[in-house]
Amino acid sequence: MNILITGGAGYIGSHVAKQLLETTDHTITILDNLSTGSPKTLETLKTIRDFEFVKLDLKAFDKIPEVLQKHQIDTIIHFAASIVVPESVENPLKYYMNNTVNTTNLIKCALENGVGKFVFSSTAATYGEPDSLPINGIDENFPTKPINPYGMSKLMSEQVIQDAAKANADFKYVIFRYFNVAGADIYYDDSAHTQLNPRIGQSFPNATHLIKIASECAVGKREKMAIFGDDFYTIDGTGVRDYIHVDDLADAHIKAIHYLDENPSDIFNVGYGQGFSVRQVIEAMKEVTETDFPVEHAPRRAGDPAALISDNTKIKSKMQWIPKYKDLALICHSAYEWEKKL
Ligand code: UD1
Repeated sequence: MNILITGGAGYIGSHVAKQLLETTDHTITILDNLSTGSPKTLETLKTIRDFEFVKLDLKAFDKIPEVLQKHQIDTIIHFAASIVVPESVENPLKYYMNNTVNTTNLIKCALENGVGKFVFSSTAATYGEPDSLPINGIDENFPTKPINPYGMSKLMSEQVIQDAAKANADFKYVIFRYFNVAGADIYYDDSAHTQLNPRIGQSFPNATHLIKIASECAVGKREKMAIFGDDFYTIDGTGVRDYIHVDDLADAHIKAIHYLDENPSDIFNVGYGQGFSVRQVIEAMKEVTETDFPVEHAPRRAGDPAALISDNTKIKSKMQWIPKYKDLALICHSAYEWEKKL
């Protein structure tokens, strides 16, 4: 396959690129505007195996056909997007432009240039505020009712992809609804696997993710952190999320591009089906890193649902996806080891 990875210099895209370069022979082209993606990550990926890099913002969509033709792209894995929930509440048009409009243009280019497979990064934020949690996870048939522009921008993109596929028999998709992605490259220096030494991870300095912020506290880059809201209807009042290790998520993408050779288009949740509260995550980070740091209480953040936990039955049974890094301590440990190297 000739695969285009948009957003391949970013956090999740780079972990997918890493696995494709390491474990397959497919030809990879990474397209990224480097607004949050990292040139250093690209250098590291090049030490695994060579690939083409195109620095381009997807809004320059008149340039995309040339890229697709030059590299004879048959498969697109589309990550490039804006992803911060509270920012989407403040600046919704940024999200509709960068996510929905750019995805629509990309699909138009894909259809006009013979791209047959499309893997799309969607989000659990499409579900909004589930009524029936935190007892059971939400499945793919759960009503999608986003409560922030980020979730809506992704849901609208999903609709465009599905309609495009309905009208074009040669265009197939996998849509992944990610839960909370965290951690860094599980890579050991030694054969005994005692020294975890991630080669890539979340590099963007202003990231807002809980586990990233907790790891910045643990390494001493931040003095303290805040819990946003402790009056949710959850186990301890703080927000509950289903944290999934980025390498397990990346593996789902590798499975998806092969899945589409034999199977119809479909939508899958990608999460572990286990929820942890903000408090539990912070405790896990402190314990695994043997550190302590002050934690304050702050009001709820705009657009935050109380709890999101996946039902992952479908991806496990249809794609034989078997997650390997479910341990919250390992997720925190890998994020921390990466943060030390940044
Ligand atoms: C994350 C993703 C989003 C994805 C969603 C799926 C990012 C930036 N966000 O959003 O793209 O669609 O998961 O579920 O990748 N929190 C604190 N203190 C902090 C930071 C966070 O209390 O300093 C809390 C939040 O209020 C929330 C939880 O931790 O309850 C997780 O927040 P965060 O890591 O920012 O992810 P989401 O907003 O869930």
